[in-house]
Amino acid sequence: MTSPVETKLILGDSKDKLKSIESNSIDLIVTSPPYADSRSSTYGGVKPDEYVEWFLPISCELLRVLKPDGTFILNIKEKVVNGERHTYVLELILALRQQGWLWTEEFMWHKRNSYPGKWPNRFRDSWERLLQFNKSRRFNMYQDAVMVPMGDWARTRLKNLSDTDKVRDPSKVGSGFGKRIANWIDRDMAYPTNVLHMATETGNKNHSAVFPESLPEWFIKLFTKERDWVLDPFAGSGTTIRVARRMARNSIGIEVLQEYYDQAKAKLLDAQQYILFEHKETYEATRPQRRNGLR
Ligand SMILES: C[S@@+](CC[C@H](N)C(=O)[O-])C[C@H]1O[C@@H](n2cnc3c(N)ncnc32)[C@H](O)[C@@H]1O
Repeated sequence: MTSPVETKLILGDSKDKLKSIESNSIDLIVTSPPYADSRSSTYGGVKPDEYVEWFLPISCELLRVLKPDGTFILNIKEKVVNGERHTYVLELILALRQQGWLWTEEFMWHKRNSYPGKWPNRFRDSWERLLQFNKSRRFNMYQDAVMVPMGDWARTRLKNLSDTDKVRDPSKVGSGFGKRIANWIDRDMAYPTNVLHMATETGNKNHSAVFPESLPEWFIKLFTKERDWVLDPFAGSGTTIRVARRMARNSIGIEVLQEYYDQAKAKLLDAQQYILFEHKETYEATRPQRRNGLR
């Protein structure tokens, strides 16, 4: 019999609450922390110059709880300070490498529906970073789970190849461009690129920085299988853990603000899910649960 899916929502500061999670127990961390003090009017924030110092004790715990073959996806973007992009994200990448993380990849989230606007010195910002960090070079990645339709690419690309390219035969030329094209010619599905085209979330009026469900969903598909453990240490309205639950992954979300914790809790209850809530050192479960994953 398959075990029930476990979902835990914890109220508190990740710096402290992460300590209750077992070492090497999490398969995927996917999260969007405050982008320095960009939204200080709503959920507080950290000054850009102090960002790395604030983040490192949290990422030290993340390094501890992630399994050796797990992945950490960090959705972040540098804000503009005094007319310049601040460098805290770049500094953070270097500091995380010093801390022991491998900076494996960077995905770009292209926000398809960013609102129009006019600024004197730049255009509207339509993308965010999704930094991928790992503990080792060998990590779990289920690439077939995120394949995309091939579309017209193979046909149109082939039409544009020169005659020389067209006559290239893999058996004669080895591993050249012609060979790779030929390999894909009759296929319906291809692997995606590292640019994700997704609309921003417009449905949630109660939290100012909700990401779309499609974002954690894509990474959960790519880096986990059913019953694996997903963690979001900056849970906000609980998007990641709600999606993880829907996808039959176990998950833990941590949120420091009571208001957003309540929001995340209400949304989980809305979906009539059986969850463990931890607040003020007490536990409340909508159904008795084992406390796996929590010490
Ligand atoms: C960008 S929002 C996350 C939004 C989330 N992805 C969603 O879809 O709703 C960042 C969240 O981190 C929370 N937060 C900030 N510092 C925290 C900390 N030290 N520990 C836990 N949560 C924190 C904020 O209150 C905020 O809700």
